[in-house]
Parts: sequence; structure tokens; C-alpha cells
Amino acid sequence: MPDATHIAAIHAREVLDSRGNPTVEVDLRLRGGALGRAIVPSGASTGRHEAVELRDGNPTRYDGKGVLRAVAAVNDVIAPALAGDNPADASEQAALDALLRELDGTSNKSRLGANAILGVSLAAARASAHAAGIPLYRHLGGESATLLPLPMVNIISGGRHAAGGLDMQDFLAIPIGAPTYRAALRMAVDVHRAVGRILTQTGPYGHGVADEGGYGPPLPCHEDALGLLHDATRLAGYRCARDGDIAIGIDVAATEFRDAAGGYTLQAERRTFSATELADLLAHWAGTYPIISIEDGAGEDDWDGWAYLTERLGTSTQLIGDDLFTTNPQRLAMGADRGIANAILVKPNQIGTLTETLDTVRLARQRGYLPVISARSGETEDTTIADLAVATGAGQIKIGSITRSERLAKYNQLLRIEEELGEHARFAGRDVFARFLAQ
Ligand code: PGA
Ligand code: ZN
Repeated sequence: MPDATHIAAIHAREVLDSRGNPTVEVDLRLRGGALGRAIVPSGASTGRHEAVELRDGNPTRYDGKGVLRAVAAVNDVIAPALAGDNPADASEQAALDALLRELDGTSNKSRLGANAILGVSLAAARASAHAAGIPLYRHLGGESATLLPLPMVNIISGGRHAAGGLDMQDFLAIPIGAPTYRAALRMAVDVHRAVGRILTQTGPYGHGVADEGGYGPPLPCHEDALGLLHDATRLAGYRCARDGDIAIGIDVAATEFRDAAGGYTLQAERRTFSATELADLLAHWAGTYPIISIEDGAGEDDWDGWAYLTERLGTSTQLIGDDLFTTNPQRLAMGADRGIANAILVKPNQIGTLTETLDTVRLARQRGYLPVISARSGETEDTTIADLAVATGAGQIKIGSITRSERLAKYNQLLRIEEELGEHARFAGRDVFARFLAQ
């Protein structure tokens, strides 16, 4: 059948994410019968420069968070255009995504919604992989897609993802000493368990589960979170060191506590920092704890703050731009021209199509930035990012913690891929950070 990969039908529906918020699910069927399904995730600490997530704003449904308008955009606008008399070819991803952008017609996907557009883009990729009879990672990455990512695993949450009082968003365990992905995952589980044991002993913190599955304890200050992570790693029998088994990562998510005057107020530290002082604080911690990665250590539009942070820590530490770059090639190019940050968080729904996501990863490589494929705080059973990490050979993935099935869906998918690749599976471990470890 010559047109087996042409789109026969597209149908979207409103489903729920891991916070119980509505999100878009898309079913896309090809003429040859293959079906692709994708569900779009959603952030809480979103960047100002992200593509627009279309929400209904009707306060009588889901506090205004319904996505019926985005669902209608798929069913009433995109479906007739792509699955009509002149159907689009799902195996031509770049052309399909260009068509979607054209249909939307805005620079930030605000007409149809990035949630509507990404749902169709990812469902098309899945359908096309099914039609070809190959796994998604191979469909997107070819035969050379054999590198399993090093996971950076959320253990303690603060900021918008937890109610414990820490301003910074993530304290992560990075199992740099693991020989395989499977071993890395197990090490992270051991550290998570050990933190739970310490929290129970030192209570009255309770366990609680934050938005990304980690603990959200009411610790008195941020350094306590670092100390806790450090102690738990040792309790679990590992060496917490840059040349050891586990290194530490932080997602500062600084945009969330930056005020209009440019100050960074940390409630847990009871003071306001300038960008320089915040970078100095992070550098001080990096001198005390084995911190190998810091994300959003300055606000999304604080280019001077970022420049200082990069000057201070850029040779020794991975500095990831999340809200800074929003997976946007133009934003990344701006940062690269100024020599800011050295890594980029890659979240497909920040930009809104698979093709643009892949373009951003490609550009990151060209400009010497490490790509880190990432989930959102609002997630679902959709596992696309696991395959995307292997397809791009990104080397790193950030999914959240090792509890809550919307996180495990991805971790488990990576276990399946590792098994399927068998002796071809590669894992870089600490080598991902070679350029920082040489310092
Ligand atoms: P978000 O958080 O999905 O709420 O934006 C994830 C992150 O900041 O990395
Ligand atoms: Zn972030």
C-alpha cells in the first residue's frame, strides 16, 4: 500500500495528568492501520518564553485548567487539514510539523496551542514507528541509537513542587559511578530509601510525596537538603563524591523567586540575594558538596546573572538552562553567542513539535552544550521522552524521582530499551561529565 503512512484519522480527548489537571491525548491512525497515541505533559514552574499551553480559562471546570479548546483545535482544525482529501504523510515528520506550525500561524503556537500541536506531532511519530514495525527510539534515531542516558534523579523537592518550605526546586542524585543504566537506577532507589530512613528517624517530617515523586520535607535551610543527600548516600553504602558513585545536582529554578527588582529572595535563608550573591552561594556549596550540575541558577531573563554564574562555575560544573532556553533554538543561540550556561534542558512541550525539539538538540551539540532530556512536573503514562533520550543519544535524562508511576513509566521504558539493545547498549556514566571532572 503506497500510502500506508498517510494519516487516516486524528482524534483528541481530554485526559488527566499526575496532578489531576486536564491535558491533551491524541490518537492518530494511518491508512495502513497503524495507531499512534501520545499524551502531552505540563509544567508548574514554566518559563515565560515557552510555547503557549492552551487552557480554557473557564473557572467552572477544573479551575479554568480544562483543555477542551486545545482538543477542539485538534479535532476541528488539525484533523480536517491533515487527515482530509489530501492526507499528510506521518513518516515525513519535518514536513508534518511544518504543516502544523503553518496551520497555527503564530510564533509561539498560541492559536492552536502547543499542547494540541505537540500531541499530534508525537502521535504521528509513534504511528509511523508502528507502521515501520520498529521501536520509537530506532525510528527517530536509527541504528546508532544505542546510548542509554545517565539519570539525574530527584530525591528532595522544594519550590513549586512541594510544600516543605525550601525555595529551590530539586535536589538530585546522579549515579555517575554506575556501569549501566539499570545499575544507576538501582543506586538512585537506594539513596531515596536511605533519605526516607533518615527522615523517619529525625521526624516529625513524615514522608509525603512531592509532585515529582521525591520527598518534600520542611527542612530549615537548603544546606540541610544537601547534607541529607550526602548522609543518605553514605548510609546506602555509596561514596558521595565527584570521583565516586553519586554526585549531586540542584535545580535552583531561580526564576520562581526572582523579584521585579532582580533580587532573589530565599525564604528558607531569610534574605534576598543579588544574582552575584546567589552564584557565590552556589559556588560555596559546590566547594563543600560534590555538586556536578546546577540548573537555572539565575532567572530566565537575567543574562548578567547567568554570565557571572557561568564565569564562576562554568568550567567545573554543568550549568543547565531550562527556563532560560525553553528548548527554543533562538534562545539557545542567544545564550551560546554570549557564552552563557553549558547545557540545555530539553522538554518537547516547551517548543511544541518533535522536529523543533530535535533541531534544538542538534544545535546544542553544534554549540558545545550538553542536552538533558526532561519530563515536566505534570506527567502521564506517556513514555516518549525515554525513547527520545536514546534516539538523540543525549546522554542524560531528568524524569523526577523513583516513585509515582508517571515517572516509573519512563524509567521502566528505559529498562526495556536497555534489555532490547542487549550487548549493543552503551552507557556513558561519569564520562558524560568528562569536561568538568578534568578540572
Ligand atoms: P516544571 O519543572 O515541569 O514544573 O517546569 C521541571 C523543571 O523545572 O525542571
Ligand atoms: Zn528546571
